[in-house]
Amino acid sequence: MKLIVDFAGVTQIQELYRYFPVDGVTTNPTILAREGKNPYEVLTAIRECIGDDTDLHVQVISDKAETMLEEAKRIRSVLGSNTYIKIPVTREGLRAIRMMKKNNYMVTATAIYNALQGYLAGLAEADFAAPYINRIDNLGADGVQVAKDIHDIFRSGNMPTQVLAASFKNSQQVLELAKYGIAAATVSPDVIEGMLRIDAAQGAVGVFRKDFEKLCGPGKTMKDC
Ligand code: E4P
Repeated sequence: MKLIVDFAGVTQIQELYRYFPVDGVTTNPTILAREGKNPYEVLTAIRECIGDDTDLHVQVISDKAETMLEEAKRIRSVLGSNTYIKIPVTREGLRAIRMMKKNNYMVTATAIYNALQGYLAGLAEADFAAPYINRIDNLGADGVQVAKDIHDIFRSGNMPTQVLAASFKNSQQVLELAKYGIAAATVSPDVIEGMLRIDAAQGAVGVFRKDFEKLCGPGKTMKDC
C-alpha cells in the first residue's frame, strides 16, 4: 500500500520525504486554508518539492460539473499533468468525474462516506476513490470496513478504480488497510511520525550503542573500530 502525505506545509512535507518512504501529496481546501496563502503559491511550492513525476491531488470547489472542468484545466496547466483532480462524489461531482475522464484527466473521487458512493465512483471510472475512514467512524459506522467493501466491489467487478483511503486518526487504521491490500492511504504527518514513535526501539538502539562502545570505545562505529 502506497503511503501518501495528506498535508500542504512544504517544510513538513520535505522533512517526511527525507525520513519516510512516502510517495505523493494530497490536499483539500481545508488543508490549503491552514497555510493562509494563495493556494497556487502553496501547490506550486509542493510541486517543486516533490518533483514533476510524483502524484499530487488537488480538489475542485465548484458546484457545477462544467465549472469543475474549468478548474481542472487551470489546476493541470499550473501543476502539470501528473496532478489528480479531486472531485467529491455528489450528484454533480459524479457527472464531472465522467466528463473529466472523457477529457483524459486523472481523477480522485473524494468525500466518500459509504460503499455506494465508492461503487458509483468505480462505475464513473475514477482512478482513485477516497473513503474518509475516521469521519465515517465518527458517524457511528466502520470506516475501515467501508474501505474494504469498496476495494472488494472494485476487484469483484473488474473495475480499474483503486482505493485511496483518507482521513486517518491513528496508525492502526492504516495498518488494517495495508494488510487488506488497499492501493494507497493518505495520512497526516502526525500519524505518519507516530508510526515510528516507539520507546522500546529507541531503548534497544541505546543498549546496542552502549554495548558496542564497551567493546570498541566511546563514539566508535563499525566504520572505525
Ligand atoms: C483526503 O484527501 C481528505 O480530504 C482528508 O484525508 C480528510 O481528512 P480529515 O478527515 O482528517 O479532515
